[in-house]
Amino acid sequence: MRAVLVTGGAGFIGSGLVHHLIAHTDAVVTVLDKLTGAGNRDSLTGVPDERLRFVRGDVCDVAVVDELVAGQDVVVHCAAESHNDAALRDPRPFVDTNIVGTAVVLEACRRHDVRLHHVSTDEVFGDLALDDPTRFTEASPYRPSSPYAASKASADHLVRAWVRSFGLRATLSSCSNTYGPRQHVEKLIPRQVTNILDGRRPRLYGSGAHVRDWIHVEDHSAAVLRIIEAGRIGETYLVGADGEHSNREVLAMVLQLMGQSADAFDHVRDRPGHDVRYAIDATRLRHELGWRPQHTDLEAGLSETITWYREHEAWWRPHKATVEQEYEREGR
Ligand code: NAD
Ligand code: DAU
Repeated sequence: MRAVLVTGGAGFIGSGLVHHLIAHTDAVVTVLDKLTGAGNRDSLTGVPDERLRFVRGDVCDVAVVDELVAGQDVVVHCAAESHNDAALRDPRPFVDTNIVGTAVVLEACRRHDVRLHHVSTDEVFGDLALDDPTRFTEASPYRPSSPYAASKASADHLVRAWVRSFGLRATLSSCSNTYGPRQHVEKLIPRQVTNILDGRRPRLYGSGAHVRDWIHVEDHSAAVLRIIEAGRIGETYLVGADGEHSNREVLAMVLQLMGQSADAFDHVRDRPGHDVRYAIDATRLRHELGWRPQHTDLEAGLSETITWYREHEAWWRPHKATVEQEYEREGR
């Protein structure tokens, strides 16, 4: 694998993957990213110039995608509109980028016979009840409940159809909630960390009993690389690190790590249609491909993440006020 195209490579997962590929392979990486509010060119700081080509562009642009896909060994498709609250404000860009953009990437990979890995999410399976003893597996039915999740589910169906109908060499991964450095301040953990740094009280949606299954971005990246190297064509691999916690628990950890009382937060209006619980059974990935998460202590991972935000204010500061103004308008 000498040449890899990462779409959305200036985003949270994409940039984490680029840093991982640079550290663990010899690949030269091309990044195609539109630099929407979520993407940040500075997330690629530290990647040597001779290993990186950065192209600002849209995955819906057929000509740009076609030119970049030609000559690659692998395409990793991370570009997406990724935030549930943003999809509730305006779902249209989610349809364009997540569905149409994926179709454009698929067609380019088909034309040039290039191997594709499609980065998806556990949200395609909908949610689980808090007391449900089961977790999501590769056999779980698709039941997306939000506009974002429905757009990602649509994209997954397109990928599978291209594998079956055209023999495209593609794999998929559905990962759980990922945390770590370089995540946009619109998302739960960076939002609350930067609120506390700014002397604002964190905001918890509804009761805060909702459960997410947390995994560190380095473990997510390692799983994607492992699937590219050894995954079976046409297969989906669920990625998760047995990290189930309620939002209340996660917030309490963040508050205490930052020297505050565990209850120093405000309950705010709940997210409409809020998924109750996600939980991943990653047995296939562990047994078939031998992947194991390295960051199994959430508190330690959160502590390092908090340190990263403390030390990189210049990275997040330009976006903070706009994000908070939008939340303010919605009573969140
Ligand atoms: P992000 O919003 O941080 O990054 C998305 C990137 O895509 C940004 O850099 C953005 O500029 C770029 N982008 C958006 N529209 C584009 C377009 N039309 N053309 C080119 N680039 C465009 O999101 P993320 O959290 O890094 O998520 C990346 C992928 O990982 C998504 O497919 C998401 O569904 C998936 N995922 C994320 C998580 C998570 O917890 N963050 C978990 C599982 C799966
Ligand atoms: O499960 C994977 C998904 O995880 C990815 O596909 C998405 O791209 C990613 O954004 C994430 O989705 P969530 O909606 O779970 O993430 P978010 O960080 O927005 O919210 C996490 C939980 O925290 C959710 O239950 C809502 C809640 N929340 C969020 C914010 C921003 C709060 O209580 N307060 C907040 O301020």
